Amino acid sequence: MRRKIVAGNWKMNGSRDLSEELVGYIRSEAETLDSGVEVVIIPPAIYIGDVLKQAHKLLSVGVQNVGQWQSGAYTGEISSEMAKDAGCRYVLVGHSERRQLFGETDELVAAKVSRVLSSGLTAIVCVGETLDERESGQAEAIVAAQVRSGLAQVEKGDWQNVVVAYEPVWAIGTGKTATSMDAQAMHAAIRSVLKNMGAPAEEISLLYGGSVKADNAAALFAEPDIDGGLIGGASLVAEDFVSICRYFPAGT
Ligand code: 13P
Repeated sequence: MRRKIVAGNWKMNGSRDLSEELVGYIRSEAETLDSGVEVVIIPPAIYIGDVLKQAHKLLSVGVQNVGQWQSGAYTGEISSEMAKDAGCRYVLVGHSERRQLFGETDELVAAKVSRVLSSGLTAIVCVGETLDERESGQAEAIVAAQVRSGLAQVEKGDWQNVVVAYEPVWAIGTGKTATSMDAQAMHAAIRSVLKNMGAPAEEISLLYGGSVKADNAAALFAEPDIDGGLIGGASLVAEDFVSICRYFPAGT
């Protein structure tokens, strides 16, 4: 089902103290949040237990990455099954930092998506173009290709466990955000690619990520094809993250 989601990707940041502070703050502000918005925390895996312990069902928890295997001699890796066992609901797959810094290819992204779906968790599959690709007019083609290849192996009954996050690489951590019009245009394009793939496109949540802050979230979330956000830097500041969670227009 298409849901409104605000997810905080801590990347390799945070601590047990931050987890306590952030979840405590969300808890204290819970009645000011739209109950229809799912708040997701995606901390470094080592803090998942701490976040879950404090979350009291107010929040969902995700993991930033999993290996493509179920188990075995893969030192340093964790599996989607383990993430599920630990209490996670979501797995980020194909974040641009994984693609750029760890050489993740579209094929690997597709393999990880399959693994996540077969473990019963929801994959948040990240796509996005670089600045060069945008400036040379290829943004839509690049993103469409990432969507098609990353989701190529999704089986018919599994689409309900797929979320797509559009994160233009040039907007991540730079303070530059796509305008709400450009982001909406890309989200509409992604939805039409999903439809052409035979997916129930209207049911799939599409998140925007890339320098989402308290002062630009309202405009982004008001767009019809933007169902929420994947937040980096601002998710590490409790007040900012909660403000972003509040920016869904009432009754949407
Ligand atoms: P920033 O919000 O810091 O730009 O990061 C976005 C992101 O990469 C979330 O996954």
